[in-house]
Amino acid sequence: MAGKFVTIEGCEGVGKTTLIEGLKKYFAATGTAAVFTREPGGTAVAEKIRALILDAANTETTPVTELLLYAAARAQHTEELIIPALKAGKVVVCDRYSDSTLAYQGYARGLSKSLCRTLNSIAERGVKIDLTVFLDLSPEKGFLRKGGADQSDRLEKEDLLFHRRVYQGFCDIARSDTERVVAVDASLTREEVLDSVINEMKRRGIIG
Ligand code: TMP
Repeated sequence: MAGKFVTIEGCEGVGKTTLIEGLKKYFAATGTAAVFTREPGGTAVAEKIRALILDAANTETTPVTELLLYAAARAQHTEELIIPALKAGKVVVCDRYSDSTLAYQGYARGLSKSLCRTLNSIAERGVKIDLTVFLDLSPEKGFLRKGGADQSDRLEKEDLLFHRRVYQGFCDIARSDTERVVAVDASLTREEVLDSVINEMKRRGIIG
């Protein structure tokens, strides 16, 4: 495909939103044709699925239901938005993608990792990720920075042990796929994080 696909991953409160804001400004200033999107969500149908997944009132949601909902949202988002944008030659920057499923539903919830991988590969519709930025910061430091968990968000309310397993998952993924994933020390300043991500994108020919 003509475009490039970049995903941003990491635990809660690691600075994904700040990084994305910085990238938006940089791309606007350099005239880079880009689409910024997020998971779960990104399209009308997938945003409805997001609301269903994250609603703290939905206490009955089972882990497998949750996994299938993330996969459903991803399939819709990928076909409706990501693939057309890549075909149009754009840089697509996605706030979370398949690695979050493996880290949260696989490592943290304890569902079968091979089931997570299978569902990810169905939902990805054959799309290839050109770069994954793993914002590396422990959940302890992340929540401290965020000022605590958002109690209206079902996933953020999970206990610290859950988020430690998520972190372990991301660290394992980064170690096992050093070609695709670059770990960036998220305790650095926002300017340093942005610079290192922009340099990595340049090094890989994602941006000029
Ligand atoms: P956000 O807070 O970064 O917008 O992400 C929403 C929540 O969904 C966050 O707690 C991580 C979680 N999540 C999963 O558990 N599995 C997934 O596949 C994705 C994309 C997100």
